[in-house]
Amino acid sequence: MRINSKVLSTIFRTNKNEINKFCSHLLKKKLNFSYIKGLERDKVLIKILKRITSDQQIIAGKGRTKKWQDGWREALTLYKKSNSLTPKFYTARENKYFRLNGELIKSKNSNFEVGMVNLFRNWYFKKYFENIEDIYEFGAGTGHNMVELSKIYPDKNLYASDFVPTSVNLLKLVSKKKKMKMKCFQFNMVKPNKRLKIKEGSAIYTSGALEQLSGKIYDFINFTLSKKPNIVIHVEPAPQFYNTKKLADFTADFFQRKRGYTDNLLDYLTLLESKKKIKIIKKMKSPFGSLMIEGYNFIAWRPK
Ligand SMILES: C[S@@+](CC[C@H](N)C(=O)[O-])C[C@H]1O[C@@H](n2cnc3c(N)ncnc32)[C@H](O)[C@@H]1O
Repeated sequence: MRINSKVLSTIFRTNKNEINKFCSHLLKKKLNFSYIKGLERDKVLIKILKRITSDQQIIAGKGRTKKWQDGWREALTLYKKSNSLTPKFYTARENKYFRLNGELIKSKNSNFEVGMVNLFRNWYFKKYFENIEDIYEFGAGTGHNMVELSKIYPDKNLYASDFVPTSVNLLKLVSKKKKMKMKCFQFNMVKPNKRLKIKEGSAIYTSGALEQLSGKIYDFINFTLSKKPNIVIHVEPAPQFYNTKKLADFTADFFQRKRGYTDNLLDYLTLLESKKKIKIIKKMKSPFGSLMIEGYNFIAWRPK
């Protein structure tokens, strides 16, 4: 099977016209997959369960800051040599099994997930950021999301931040080399600097960054709310979206909880909505995922 506008409109919960408008240029490059069944599916599920048992990584455990600091230093060296910005956590996937619309799939293309990330962000950047002039990403890592955003909107003002200096150095280099309209600065989401000025009518964006705070998200969400942005978009893991009656989702939920990814984002935003402080514009289950988890749940909200 091939990823086309019909598949994307189903998994992004939208219509084909919108997909054709926003993603058709990317669909020219073939992205094929097939569903796995029977013994092959059992084998993959056993592999996932074994990996859950042996995995030792704890999100926000001791030494994680150093890991990010070292990881982004390595990425900086790699970028100088090869111009590649796709983080290792995508390219190091050794297998070709992924998740699509809650099902396990396989693809001959080991970059299937990278391709899906690009289709997805092209869709939501174009749908939600068209009329916004200033866009801030927190926990930006290598800045690959901002690079794609600047290809779509070269004239918008972009702001990229991360909590480790090696990432900020990389972001600055990328901005300079690619002649982007992007300012870069250090910012710790666990202890947000309340004096940071956010331009009126801005967008605030996180992608796989709140997941790293092991639930310490309240100060960042309250900071975001206090800055009265026009729109906030999170693309993050959130266990509430899994249907744990299905084995594939059950394993992803299990893995995510074992690692200790942030699990309270949706609950906190729902609470803020019940207190009439925010409006949740759209929320949807991750349309796709890696072998182990679905990390791309989409939540868009704005202050009331
Ligand atoms: C999984 S990476 C995602 C990076 C990027 N947003 C992306 O989509 O590729 C998580 C990012 O969160 C950053 N991070 C972790 N803890 C943070 C904190 N307390 N404040 C700000 N950034 C943080 C890491 O340095 C890393 O860049």
